[in-house]
Amino acid sequence: MTDQAVQTPVSSNPAGHPERVFSGVQPTGNLHLGNYLGAIRNWLPMQDEKPCIFCVVDLHAITAGFEPDLADKTREIAAAYIAAGIDPEKSIVFAQSRVPAHAELAWILNCVARIGWLDRMTQFKEKAGKNKERVSVGLYAYPVLMAADILAYRGTHVPVGEDQKQHLELARDIAQKFNNDLNVPGFFPQPEPMILGPTPRVMSLRDGKAKMSKSDMSDLSRINLKDSDEEIAAKIRKARTDPEPIGGTLEEIDARPEASNLIGIYAALSGKTKAEVLEIYDGAQFSTFKGELADLTISVIGPIRDRMAALLTDKGEIDRVLNRGAERAVEIAMPILAETKKAAGFL
Ligand code: AMP
Ligand code: TRP
Repeated sequence: MTDQAVQTPVSSNPAGHPERVFSGVQPTGNLHLGNYLGAIRNWLPMQDEKPCIFCVVDLHAITAGFEPDLADKTREIAAAYIAAGIDPEKSIVFAQSRVPAHAELAWILNCVARIGWLDRMTQFKEKAGKNKERVSVGLYAYPVLMAADILAYRGTHVPVGEDQKQHLELARDIAQKFNNDLNVPGFFPQPEPMILGPTPRVMSLRDGKAKMSKSDMSDLSRINLKDSDEEIAAKIRKARTDPEPIGGTLEEIDARPEASNLIGIYAALSGKTKAEVLEIYDGAQFSTFKGELADLTISVIGPIRDRMAALLTDKGEIDRVLNRGAERAVEIAMPILAETKKAAGFL
């Protein structure tokens, strides 16, 4: 991984629709440092640049099965957005299931997307594994719902972690095919994936070749936004490394996945580049570096965790924020859905 943002295609928006940022996180499992550094943190500065919509994608969450505490998990993600610095006055924060346009547009787009396109989705292959015949149809159609999320608002910019790049390419293809097939050039813009920062892919603390994930069996593999200071410090202390001290060039460190991951996390949390961090810690032992990385992580994640806990003591207030967000989202999505249905020839 280099310090440069991954090269991404630009938004194709020949009709000049207003620019709009859209992103989302699923209310499943525990939010972790990968979600924060790969996604949420990169949303913050965008709020001052463009209109932003940040969704808790609860319809996506059920593709892997129904959970009794879905509503509380949804509130938790909304609280994390706000605790991390999303301002629900400025940005629209809402739950996907509250805006019917997502599911309705997804159906129309299911008839645009091709089976062959979905068959290529690596995330489906990973999640389904050998169980392909037994997973839900929803898990298969998941990327089409994601395209609908974005296109329901004519989203032009989509800040996500690197693992979502293929889904974004699919969304672009779906937008283009709709425009072509129905002869409505520029109707949907092609959304631009924005994969930003030194850690577009934060890796597991136990295995530098696996991404940090909500679904990893080992809690030691990830730093959860809910972890206590002690848990954060212990997980970083136990993080896997190789026996060599820190050092070498960026290319050399990138060939050492665990070392590269920790340096990347330090860089992202401190606002430095990986090259700068390498220079500071050149020749240092991991024991020293890990102590400082733990302090840094606690200084960033600790206050977010505490704000999140405080917000969650008042569920009523979170629900009010989400209700208001849904009202604002509906105002944008409903007219676009109506135009889409007209373009598709419905009565
Ligand atoms: P999810 O947890 O799958 O709903 O992902 C929410 C957001 O976090 C998406 O933008 C993902 O790309 C991002 N994300 C998830 N895991 C990681 C990771 N290990 N590193 C970087 N970004 C991630
Ligand atoms: N699939 C995304 C993930 O797991 C979440 C998501 C759903 C999303 N819809 C979206 C992200 C629309 C960006 C835009 O990370």
